[in-house]
Parts: sequence; C-alpha cells; structure tokens
Amino acid sequence: MLRQASQPDTIAVEAIDLVKDFNETRAVNGVTLAVPTGSIFGLLGPNGAGKTTTLRMLIGIIDPSSGTRRVLGRERPLEAANEVGYLPEERGLYPAMQARDAIAFMGALRGLPIAEGRRRADALLTEHGLGDWSKKPIRTLSKGMAQIVQLLGTIIHKPRLIVLDEPFAGLDAINQAKLEELIRRETRAGVTVIFSTHVIAHAERLCERVAIIAKGKVAFDGRVDEARARLRPIVRLRTRASDGPWRDAIPAGARREGDEYVFELPEGGPEPLLKALIDGGAGIETLAIERPGLHDAFVHIAGDAAAAAMGQEKPQ
Ligand SMILES: Nc1ncnc2c1ncn2[C@@H]1O[C@H](COP(=O)(O)OP(=O)(O)OP(=O)(O)O)[C@@H](O)[C@H]1O
Ligand SMILES: [Mg+2]
Repeated sequence: MLRQASQPDTIAVEAIDLVKDFNETRAVNGVTLAVPTGSIFGLLGPNGAGKTTTLRMLIGIIDPSSGTRRVLGRERPLEAANEVGYLPEERGLYPAMQARDAIAFMGALRGLPIAEGRRRADALLTEHGLGDWSKKPIRTLSKGMAQIVQLLGTIIHKPRLIVLDEPFAGLDAINQAKLEELIRRETRAGVTVIFSTHVIAHAERLCERVAIIAKGKVAFDGRVDEARARLRPIVRLRTRASDGPWRDAIPAGARREGDEYVFELPEGGPEPLLKALIDGGAGIETLAIERPGLHDAFVHIAGDAAAAAMGQEKPQ
C-alpha cells in the first residue's frame, strides 16, 4: 500500500478533526494534531478539557464519533498496540502480584514473552532503585512506588510510542525528575512520547511542542516559546505625577494595583511609551516590563478559548 503524503515517517501520530460525544456531552470537539516522530509532545488543558478522551481515541481504546487518526502509520490504532505503551489516568495493578510479575504481565499483554518480561522487569526495577521490591506483592508498595512499577510496565516491551496520562501526578519531586529523565532517554532512542499534565513546568522543561486543549478544542498547538509569545509583556508603572498629558499614554484597559498602573505593553513597544510618559511629565518612579511564562500563557489561552466556547468575552 502506498503511504499517504500527509503521513511520512516523520509523523508518529496524526489526528484530524476528532470528535467524541458521550450522550449529551461533547467531550472532544474537533481536535487536530500532528506529533513528530521522536519528539516529546505535551497535552495541556484544564480539568474536563478532553485530554484523557483524546489520548484514549489516539491509542484506540475508544473510537471517535467522527474524525480520523493515524498511529505509527496505521488508520486503526489497535493494529499498532504492540508498539504502543500506555499509562492510563486511573492506575491499577493486581495487589497480590509480585512487582516483577506485574511488569511482565503488562508486557505479555503487548506481545512480550513472559520469561523475557521478568528478566527485563528485574533489570528495570534495579535501575530505578526498586530492585529489593521485585518479588514483593504490589499491595506492600507505596502509591508512588506502584506508579513507577506501572510506568516500567508501560515501557517493558520497548514501544515506539509511549502515551502517558498525567504521569507526574502522585510522584514526589525526586521521582518526577527521574521520570523526566526516563522520558528524555526514551526519545533519544527515537521513541515518541505524548503526555498530559496540569503542571506546566514539566511541559516547559520537556516538550518541543505542546497542544493546549480547552473545552474539547485545540486552543494552541506549537512550540513552547510560540505559546509564550501569544501574550504581550506586562508593564508595571509608578509615577510621581498624579495627572497630566502622560495619562494619554496609559491604555484604557490598564488597572491599578496599589499605586501602580498595570497594563499590556502597547503594540508600538517600550520606546514610544517611554517617550510619551517622559514628554508628558509622568515623573517615572519605577517601570518594569515582564515577559509572561508558559503558565500565564496557558491560563490566558485556555481562558480565552473557554470564554469563546461559551460565546462570552473573557472577564477583565
Ligand atoms: N465515559 C464518559 N462518559 C461521559 N462523559 C465523559 C466520559 N469520559 C469523559 N467524559 C466527559 O468528557 C469531558 C472531558 O473529559 P476528559 O476526562 O477527557 O477531560 P480531561 O482533560 O482528561 O480532564 P482532567 O484534567 O480532569 O483529567 C468531561 O466533561 C467529562 O465529564
Ligand atoms: Mg484526564
């Protein structure tokens, strides 16, 4: 079969206009995404935005109401199941199973022979500081440790695509850093990783590209710095003069915080603003121009999209 031009090997996962309805609820409302092979792709969005539903459709656990997806070159994602690793949002392992068996069992579900799975499980557990727990039942592990075990089970069969739904939730700071390193290491070997998160810092550190989902739609898809560039810098200004011609340089939307004016840097940039303030006799006492981080961009983009979906203006 000829490969379609829209899906060369450089795109691991592609979604076109995915929609999912659950009875009256439209959980996902036209999501289009393309995830480059070997990249780390972050899916960000507020609670209920449609992240989990999107991930489930991408790997074929549920089918979309409409729209298409291609995963590792296949229209039906389940045909690629043995090459995909998936950490679901709701964690779950058999409490009575030994840690190594739980990992080997997850591998077996994806086509890895059980004996090889046990061998790899022991090596992975040791590598992740859980060697002593290999033969202990899952019920004796802490919640975070069990989550690491489940993560190892997600990658035991050496998938080409790893999909992680909120993988950082429930992990302490040290294990979060280890997971970030594990994700980086996998992608260095050419594996593609998609993960969802509420914690913007992980995405900021890890991802080349992020998609911000709000109300079931992609509100932003691009590089992290492009998301930040969506927001204009913020000016904080304190003046000695209380009135005068300089007030014309303050945008109508400016707000007061204590004795400061706070407003978005006007289109013209800082120089015309400064000139107008100085020429207008403001007596600038302090002036700061702040560049927003991804967190602010996230709140702005998700907030705008949420407001647009409800047909309302974002409250100022
Ligand atoms: N099986 C289901 N049946 C009915 N409604 C569902 C089902 N799964 C999800 N929904 C609804 O779809 C919407 C999106 O849910 P989803 O779980 O995809 O969001 P999310 O972005 O993963 O949120 P969170 O950050 O809280 O995990 C929500 O309104 C949710 O109530
Ligand atoms: Mg979710």
